[in-house]
Amino acid sequence: MSANPAAPDVQELLGRLTLAEKVKLLTGRDFWSTWPIEKIGLRSILMSDGPSGVRGPVWDEREPSLNLPSATALSASWDDALAYRYGAVIAQEARRKGVDVALGPTINLHRSPLGGRHFEAFSEDPLLTGSLAAAYVRGIQDNGVAATPKHYIANDYETDRFTASTDVSERTLREMYLLPFEKTVTEARAWAVMSAYNAVNGVTATENDLLETPLNSEWGFDGVVVSDWTAVRSTNAARAAQDLEMPGPRGAWGDALLAAVESGAVDEADIDRKVLRILTLAARVGALEGTTAVEPVTADSGAGFAREAAAEGMVLVRNTGVLPLDPGAVTRIAVIGHNADRARTQGGGSATVVPEKVVSPLDGILAAFPEAEVEYALGAVAQEGVAELPLDTLTNPATGEPGVRVRFLSEGRALFTEDRRATRLVWFGGDAPVERSDTLEITTRYAAPRTETLRLGVAAPGVSRIWADGELVLDADARLADEQLGAAFLHPPTTSAAVPVTAGQVVEIRVEYEIPKDTGLTGALAYTLGAEADDSDPEGLIERAAAAAARADVAVVVVGTNSEVESEGFDRTSLALPGHQDALVTAVARANPRTVVAVNSGSPVELPWRDDVAAVLLTWFGGQEYGNALADVLTGSREPGGRLPTTWPARQSDVPVLDVTPVNGVVRYDEGVHVGYRAWLRSGATPAYPFGYGLGYTTWAVDRATATAEVAPDGAVEVRAEVTNTGGRAGKHIVQVYASRTHTAVDRPARWLVGHEVVRLAPGATETVKISVPARAFAHWEEGAWAYEPGEFTLHVGSSADDLPATVPVRMR
Ligand code: BGC
Repeated sequence: MSANPAAPDVQELLGRLTLAEKVKLLTGRDFWSTWPIEKIGLRSILMSDGPSGVRGPVWDEREPSLNLPSATALSASWDDALAYRYGAVIAQEARRKGVDVALGPTINLHRSPLGGRHFEAFSEDPLLTGSLAAAYVRGIQDNGVAATPKHYIANDYETDRFTASTDVSERTLREMYLLPFEKTVTEARAWAVMSAYNAVNGVTATENDLLETPLNSEWGFDGVVVSDWTAVRSTNAARAAQDLEMPGPRGAWGDALLAAVESGAVDEADIDRKVLRILTLAARVGALEGTTAVEPVTADSGAGFAREAAAEGMVLVRNTGVLPLDPGAVTRIAVIGHNADRARTQGGGSATVVPEKVVSPLDGILAAFPEAEVEYALGAVAQEGVAELPLDTLTNPATGEPGVRVRFLSEGRALFTEDRRATRLVWFGGDAPVERSDTLEITTRYAAPRTETLRLGVAAPGVSRIWADGELVLDADARLADEQLGAAFLHPPTTSAAVPVTAGQVVEIRVEYEIPKDTGLTGALAYTLGAEADDSDPEGLIERAAAAAARADVAVVVVGTNSEVESEGFDRTSLALPGHQDALVTAVARANPRTVVAVNSGSPVELPWRDDVAAVLLTWFGGQEYGNALADVLTGSREPGGRLPTTWPARQSDVPVLDVTPVNGVVRYDEGVHVGYRAWLRSGATPAYPFGYGLGYTTWAVDRATATAEVAPDGAVEVRAEVTNTGGRAGKHIVQVYASRTHTAVDRPARWLVGHEVVRLAPGATETVKISVPARAFAHWEEGAWAYEPGEFTLHVGSSADDLPATVPVRMR
């Protein structure tokens, strides 16, 4: 869809550009934007991460962003209409921040639960990923902002992501990994796509023919292929269908590309095609004179939508009847867990935005149970490394306001000064003279909230010194654990020193950091001043939490992962909860049979105690309104609307497709199309909770399935089923349709998802749902084309990959 039917003639504009101007346009101007070309009325196009909010051109708490629930929460809703509204809210945020291109959604698959960016991607199933992603893209673009489905392609792990090659068959690519991209392009007409860092079958993504076929030639993509940041390695990418190199201004193209065109190594026609695509994008987002972008129209308020979406994604997997809680009947609640107070609302890495305010589970429960006595206990430390110092403990010595003073120094002279309200500081774009400075200085007055040995420290590679009241307490040179580009930002090492403080004591803190010169990302810098958590008495923490639980009518434990577990830049090594959280849950459940556990992780974790507690809610990274949404679900003012978008293993050793580590630079996708529940069905192992599973606060029956008897390769099957709310409350259900095939010449999964539909019904009500399944859902990729095996398929209708009571045959002609 073009916002500007009478848009300027981009061909004519192209004709007015010199070769040098054209080539220059193909590399970014800086971290986030493209070059303007005044003479043709082209302004700069601004891009931003994403995908669960819009950070804008700076990473700065003074310019906060709406932090929506992460993708796994959105996909757990199984609700395309919600995904569309999510996209519209993203567009509204983008426009508020002057952003034209949102760098998302991330639509790589959950191939292995160890995948570090699992939280940021939708599902293990390509159809579920694709339909939600297409709705999300439409939601953004109908509101005048470009979406950028990423990362094309087979970028489903993080280990050695710049160099690893994914070895994958054509059939697997088509049926699994390409399918979500196909849907965002053919159904939602995405205006941009981001190419990945990794190679596919030996050819790096930015130079890969897959950018041309199927993306351009078969699917008719007419947008811009934006590289992942620094993914363009050479001018070879210009011969491929890679259009825009990001970031800039230095990169692998620039003068080298100009020379390559002049020498005939790269065709000028290839350059022209790229420029035309960028101009077309500019017209779509209103960056060309004479064009205006569609104004975002959404009825959703940011925070209100964030709250609703978080609850829509929460998956209730166990409930012995304790939930929902009646706020009028509960007199004493024990709220337990590190993440109950310091919740994870998003995953780490480029997906991070800086929210203005986060509602923790503790805050949410305090607000939802105003009459109850609420006792908080930490119970177990979940944090690893340093966490920022809380703003209310800090006074900027220069202004007297909460926060810190930051100075960039060169040979002792201040080049740049900022007053910040945070101690996790990232300069990734913006005006700070990172390159011209040799030292970063942070000063603040810390008022100790309690008597303790503060483990004051930093997260950053290289030399840091900290003075407390004039005394040098830390002088360290921290080494990076791995040398990957961006590791200083994604995976910084931590160092700390013990500083004894007494409650109310004010400590003058000064930090000096020698700015490293070789980070790879010129001009970018990340630095965290903070404190490590005190984990010296784990038994004592558990005992105090269990005692609090014993005193309460109900215990709510929030367990979860931390920034060292789920982030961009590395994969996970374990599915276990960090620290002593498992022992904590066991002790609390023993102390109080009415124990409800909320799991605050973006992807599966082992829950060895899951059958010993009264209720388990999988709540993902719930965004800035996480605590309110959790309280809504606990009290039943909202239904836990989620169903699992990915299989939840009981034990890591059961996971059929686990490996994410390249061997000799290669990750082999040898399991083919048997990914996710398809792999579990094949291996015969039983997960903790199957794909598609989730309970609400009511009960459901799905029966009387019927379907069109016969389908032709260009047709569709209409599946109908009767859905009844058999319980006593209104609720939401996801009707799921899977296909299987008994007599077949093709290596097929035991069954695979072909359709789904959200149903919301009053108690006792029945509805006939209609789900249209295109014949493509039965096709397989064979010898370069979609093939339709004639004969009988079976459709299975029900409520999860393991609960499909109604079956109906359909014949492929
Ligand atoms: C990530 C992308 C992101 C880009 C810009 C990369 O490291 O892989 O998803 O959009 O950085 O921040």
